[in-house]
Amino acid sequence: MPVLPDDRPPTVAVVGFGYVGSCLSAALADRGLDVVGVDTDAELVAELGRGYCRFQESGLSELVLRTMAAGRLRVTTDYAALDDADVVVIAVGTPVRADGSLADEALREVCAELGRRLRPGRLVVLKSTVSPGTTRNLVLPLLEKGGLTGGRDFALAFTPERLAEGAALRELSTFPIVVGGLDEESARTAAEFWQRSLGVATIGLGSLEAAEIVKLADNWWIDLNIALANELAVFCDLFEVDVLDVISAANTIAKGNGQVNILTPGVGVGGSCLTKDPWMVWRAARERGVDIRTAPVAREVNAAMPAHTAGLILRELELLGRHPVGARVAVLGLSFKSGSGDLRATPVLDAVRALTAAGAEVRLYDPLVDREAATALFGSEPERSVADAVRDADCVAVLARHPELEGLDYGALPLAGRALVLDGRDCFSGAEIESVRRAGHVYRGIGRR
Ligand SMILES: NC(=O)c1ccc[n+]([C@@H]2O[C@H](COP(=O)([O-])OP(=O)(O)OC[C@H]3O[C@@H](n4cnc5c(N)ncnc54)[C@H](O)[C@@H]3O)[C@@H](O)[C@H]2O)c1
Repeated sequence: MPVLPDDRPPTVAVVGFGYVGSCLSAALADRGLDVVGVDTDAELVAELGRGYCRFQESGLSELVLRTMAAGRLRVTTDYAALDDADVVVIAVGTPVRADGSLADEALREVCAELGRRLRPGRLVVLKSTVSPGTTRNLVLPLLEKGGLTGGRDFALAFTPERLAEGAALRELSTFPIVVGGLDEESARTAAEFWQRSLGVATIGLGSLEAAEIVKLADNWWIDLNIALANELAVFCDLFEVDVLDVISAANTIAKGNGQVNILTPGVGVGGSCLTKDPWMVWRAARERGVDIRTAPVAREVNAAMPAHTAGLILRELELLGRHPVGARVAVLGLSFKSGSGDLRATPVLDAVRALTAAGAEVRLYDPLVDREAATALFGSEPERSVADAVRDADCVAVLARHPELEGLDYGALPLAGRALVLDGRDCFSGAEIESVRRAGHVYRGIGRR
């Protein structure tokens, strides 16, 4: 039966050196483990070889490059690196297709390759988000094609990745790790691995499927909660009530094991997880003849927020006497989330498209995103500074609030007279709103005025 070595730390291969794989690899290497990242993206590996880490995550680039320089982390395109690892963690991307089904090509390829290379006594851990049953019905048979039997010759577990971009490295060393095993021994081995390697607590669940569903439940809840916050903002607007006042008061009552915890409204939900995982839920139920309604409804509500935000901007500009056609809008923050440079499924794109379609002239700025990627996505090059973006603007729309965009002195910005300042993340403090007003401009948030 598989056993982790007790005279030395286990060697680890992480397959899929994307956002999740790189965070995990660097964190493990930082704790003294010998880690190899395996990724099919040759350009990514070459960039790392040149000392560049493409992931815009606080502290990640430094940690990846430091652990590589120390010889504890290496990254390769060569699957042969899997041969010597005691533990193989799979973290490849698992997008969904237009019909909500899992696009499992990368996962299949990795498992087929690993199946050919697997030796007795290894632990395989799947971290990619998948629909329930995938570890048992897709991963296990592919691994067993190599001739070994799961549970007898090797351990297999599913342990979801639950970190949030922007705080990933901190959360990796603090969040408890959920573990579901193919059998009891697999679950025990995986739990021991995470406890020893990351020093975190583990939460054991009775099956692979339960652990798979935990990840989906987390993201289903988050998306649904934000949808509630967004509709609450629309509702509060009808009564000219500040939605954040309502949320902070509503959140003071105890419920279940905690408190009511309504999240914050905003321009929309993006990123690679919340935009797809609810569809995975919906599809997995559909395939079994059940219609799950909350997941798609939340998706619909959140997907409508960019257009709602653009409409809000255009209406407020009209109140200021500016016609939408030719109105100059400076969009600050392009990524899907404040504090991150990740452009995947950013809701800002749809907001910009709606503004442009209405005839507005949009200028872009974001200090964190990759300029080339932003230019390709938005179809126009971002400006190089806040000042360039906001020059003569009728509206400044802060749609992702990075640290550099906090506490701007709106009185000192070269705007076109009395302008609209749109807070697309409902993150301006009372003092900031006051400073916008003192400068003679109009403040508007999502459900705030
Ligand atoms: N990004 C997040 O915040 C987050 C959080 C929790 C869970 N997840 C889940 O973790 C998984 C990975 O997400 P990510 O954001 O790191 O994705 P990503 O797209 O950033 O990275 C995936 C990596 O896998 C590589 N890859 C693809 N096919 C491969 C193959 N056959 N062999 C080796 N490498 C291959 C790609 O080149 C890419 O670098 C997904 O299932 C995602 O849903 C992501």
